[in-house]
Amino acid sequence: MSERNHWQGVYQARDSDQVSWYQDVPASSLALIEATGLDHHERVVDVGGGHSTLIDHLLASGWDQVTVLDIAGSALAAARRRLGTRARRVEWVERDLLAWQPRLPYALWHDRALLHFCNDDAARAGYLRVLRAALRPGGYALIGTFAEDGPEQCSGLPVRRYSPASLAAWLGADFTLVQSRLDPHRTPAGKVQHFQFSLFHYPAGRGA
Ligand SMILES: C[S@@+](CC[C@H](N)C(=O)[O-])C[C@H]1O[C@@H](n2cnc3c(N)ncnc32)[C@H](O)[C@@H]1O
Repeated sequence: MSERNHWQGVYQARDSDQVSWYQDVPASSLALIEATGLDHHERVVDVGGGHSTLIDHLLASGWDQVTVLDIAGSALAAARRRLGTRARRVEWVERDLLAWQPRLPYALWHDRALLHFCNDDAARAGYLRVLRAALRPGGYALIGTFAEDGPEQCSGLPVRRYSPASLAAWLGADFTLVQSRLDPHRTPAGKVQHFQFSLFHYPAGRGA
């Protein structure tokens, strides 16, 4: 089964608030986004955003240049339905991240739980290539993944787990780790999954 079909199927099979990664309030993401100090008129992309409620919170706090990208159109459609007329204030991109060519640079890249599905070297290299192409000098990457003691699988797929240090080592020297936090996520079924969120400045020592 293709990756797209896998994710489409996952989203079509369950209500929005029943997927294991559902969050009513993405508190770690919101706290670390504010920690960047970026102006809310800067460009933000949520990669693998699915139907996350992050977009609702960003719009509510005045972010007005937000792109949500996902391989599963069904997830984006669910987010658009939920947002109603507010959905018009968002750029929606239904695309495989690894094949995406950003049109304009972003000040902030947000990823909660996409990178950890990039298991092989080609996918990880592709992710890094798109990340570098998307960020403006002095921009930030906020990446949330399963932590080193997090689950080994999600949604029937194997994942690669990270610590802030292993993520920093993989991203390379031009990404400076600014802040990180461990985030125990309670799934709708009541299980606790350990995530880590790490905020990086790119490239080191340049820009805002
Ligand atoms: C575990 S979900 C997390 C969704 C969202 N970030 C959240 O926190 O609610 C992973 C998301 O990544 C998307 N995804 C997986 N591989 C992708 C790819 N190669 N390109 C774009 N999106 C992808 C899936 O469709 C899914 O929405």
